[in-house]
Amino acid sequence: MEFLVDKTDGDTLFRLVLGLVVPRPIGWVSTVSEEGVYNLAPFSFFNAVNDEPPVFMLSIGDRDDGTLKDTVKNILDTKEFVINVVTQELFKTMLVSAEEFPPQVDEFKKAGLTPVEGKTVKAPYIKEAKACFECKLYKHEKVYDMHLILGEALLIRVSDEVSDLEGRIDYDKLRPIGRMAGSYYVRAFGNSLIKSD
Ligand SMILES: Cc1cc2nc3c(=O)[nH]c(=O)nc-3n(C[C@H](O)[C@H](O)[C@H](O)COP(=O)(O)O)c2cc1C
Repeated sequence: MEFLVDKTDGDTLFRLVLGLVVPRPIGWVSTVSEEGVYNLAPFSFFNAVNDEPPVFMLSIGDRDDGTLKDTVKNILDTKEFVINVVTQELFKTMLVSAEEFPPQVDEFKKAGLTPVEGKTVKAPYIKEAKACFECKLYKHEKVYDMHLILGEALLIRVSDEVSDLEGRIDYDKLRPIGRMAGSYYVRAFGNSLIKSD
């Protein structure tokens, strides 16, 4: 089957792109508004684009009514954010934080998570998360209707059980979750891992 992009409707393109670029990591982004309200939301248009220094990309659409999502507004206002890693224990909690709450709602409270102010940024990280990257905004560009956010990490926090001192990660301890399309996700640990050597 072939789909000529300019002859294919938006819903089908959405399903093809999300269904074939898999599994995707999930950047669980925490920010603080100018008014001091904490915000949290997951994004799977997320990846690393550089390692030294670490730079990450997020691609975020607008709300259906055309307004900015709280994450984008907060990042553009404060120029900083934290990317938390989604793991098995926090999977259901992550889903709660994906709901559209008004900007004055603290999504840490809604999700039952503990915010801790970052060391290098004012944005909070999730205390319960096993790893996170504290980032400052590197660049914001529009790509058609999406906000491409590039963030440079100033600090990488990872719990002692998950990483050794040289940054080798134990996936069975981290238990990361990846996103497929629709409501499908994958566990990136245990029997799912394939070793190449
Ligand atoms: C696993 C997952 C991944 C998501 N990925 C994206 C994404 O890459 N881009 C996007 O615009 N929205 C994505 N969403 C939807 C946002 O999380 C949702 O719009 C959220 O309400 C935005 O919150 P905010 O207004 O607090 O920023 C995703 C949702 C889930 C559950």
